[in-house]
Amino acid sequence: MIGSATGVRIGITGLGTHVPERVLTNAELAQIVDTSDEWILERTGIRERSIASDEEAMTDIALPAAQEALRDAGVSGSDIDLLICATVTPDMMFPTSSALLAETLGAGQAAAYDLLAGCTGFVYGLAQAYGMVSSGLSRRALVVGGDVLSKILDWDDRSTLVLFGDGAGAVVMEPVEAGGFLGFELGADGGGGEHLWLPGSGSRKFDDPASYVKMNGREVFKFATRIMVYSAEQVLSECGKTVENVDVYIPHQANKRIIDYAAAKLGIPAEKTVVNVDRYGNTSSGSIPLALADAREEGRLREGSLVLMTGMGAGLTWGSALMEWTTNGRVA
Ligand code: ACO
Repeated sequence: MIGSATGVRIGITGLGTHVPERVLTNAELAQIVDTSDEWILERTGIRERSIASDEEAMTDIALPAAQEALRDAGVSGSDIDLLICATVTPDMMFPTSSALLAETLGAGQAAAYDLLAGCTGFVYGLAQAYGMVSSGLSRRALVVGGDVLSKILDWDDRSTLVLFGDGAGAVVMEPVEAGGFLGFELGADGGGGEHLWLPGSGSRKFDDPASYVKMNGREVFKFATRIMVYSAEQVLSECGKTVENVDVYIPHQANKRIIDYAAAKLGIPAEKTVVNVDRYGNTSSGSIPLALADAREEGRLREGSLVLMTGMGAGLTWGSALMEWTTNGRVA
């Protein structure tokens, strides 16, 4: 699916993030599985990640992010009429995490649903909220992206354990005077789904009752490097922009080598590329909002900055969003 904006300007007016307190270093992981700080750093660029406690579930991590996003936008939960929560690690299948969050945030009038699109979930959520708000079906949306992948990892499998971390982010989306989203490109390839999967997590019966993330790292790596470039080029061309126009590039934070490859192939210099995989690992649906927040913190998001976000993940799925950053342009 690809499309440019309909002419209605919808932007991000609030942004919040949260990661669990507990930081797990590579050295600590090396005491759990046969790995080393050197291997992890060299092959992935990851130094440490935040890991949820036994008691912390998805909504515990997403709630502070959502509250911060609302505060940042200067609105309260009751001002939200659409809440989309992108996650592959909901507290449970139902009630949905979005319904639980809506209740706690006081968004009693909001339509609320979870969205399952792997690490691309947040970008899918942005596109859905854009469609809903620009059509007038929703006035103001809250898009949450977050995962606690530590809960579904095999802690004996070094090939997946070292890659992931827990975290969440949230944005408020609503009509703005200037800037906002220019377009989206989204896709899925179920044929490659077996390269990154969670067998036994749904209604399909498997012999092994244990439900852990299983991954063919090399295949996912090949897919990621190809699709990150393809999707970015597609959305730029659809919106009549070129890679030279991009001010801030926010790639999914899966692996520094994937980010470096995609940026180099696209021709986006390092100073325009946001990287925080070293501190958080791959936080799945939390990855892009966490990177967006870092970019803002570092003063890289200025009025009118052209921001390119590209995600990819389980499904296999991918997606890009292109937007002009707006700082205070809410439509009165
Ligand atoms: N520590 C030490 N050695 C390891 C580790 C580890 N943690 N993991 C694997 N190895 C070993 C392997 O067993 C292999 O050993 P062998 O040669 O004796 O067989 C060796 O290291 C090399 O393995 P490769 O798989 O070739 O290593 P590679 O350089 O490809 O890196 C990695 C592996 C990091 C997993 C890489 O393939 C990758 O990043 N793939 C993409 C993964 C990804 O991004 N997944 C998330 C997608 S988003 C989502 O939706 C969740």
